[in-house]
Amino acid sequence: MAIDIWFPLAIYYEDIENSADHKNSMLDKIYSLKSKVVTKRTNDQSSWTGDVHDIDQLHSDADFSWLTTEVKKHATNYLKTLGLDLGKIDIYAQRSWPIIAEKGQSVSRHTHPNANLSVVYYVSVGSGADSGATRFFNVNKYNELSGSLSSSMTEAYCDFNTLNFEQVDYAPKEGRIVIFPSKQPHDVTANKCDDPRVSISYDLVITAKKQTDDGTPEFLMPSPDRWVKL
Ligand SMILES: [Fe+2]
Repeated sequence: MAIDIWFPLAIYYEDIENSADHKNSMLDKIYSLKSKVVTKRTNDQSSWTGDVHDIDQLHSDADFSWLTTEVKKHATNYLKTLGLDLGKIDIYAQRSWPIIAEKGQSVSRHTHPNANLSVVYYVSVGSGADSGATRFFNVNKYNELSGSLSSSMTEAYCDFNTLNFEQVDYAPKEGRIVIFPSKQPHDVTANKCDDPRVSISYDLVITAKKQTDDGTPEFLMPSPDRWVKL
């Protein structure tokens, strides 16, 4: 018997070696930025996210430059692994923001339709209880034979494996960076620890190189330096 497995979702992760050296300074900076926000735009059940509070340009902040450098390195590794020709493209950090999940807080299911690849870095994670997880949903379900078979009302499956999983959880870990396609639906489950879970997200965009001998390929996003604001 043989089974070939095709079209897998690729989630990248790596533990950054010197991350502990930056933890306290990053936390101080994040809480300092948060303290300047006057109007809270998230409810008590939802994590506090910088992107809806106009704190979404950490990649332009010198205090986070070491992390932005790491994001570039690991995003490059990810794209190489996916088979992209890095000689043809540039990677831009478009948006980056802190997230603070107090006990009981979560992030509802979403995608990042404004970007191509998304990054999460865990600055601080509580211990002693479930600190929540980034949960990716299997939207393609290539092996779903029918909706009724996979329904929780049917319970037709007894062996859960990579051929039938409907979701997968990535537990947070301090100093870990995770990268995934921005269009992949995901949420973040509730932090049950007494200590907050603090992370930083980056949204990255892929464009053509600034200058090419042959012009920009038809379907590749032109470099922003060729754009004109109208
Ligand atoms: Fe997200």
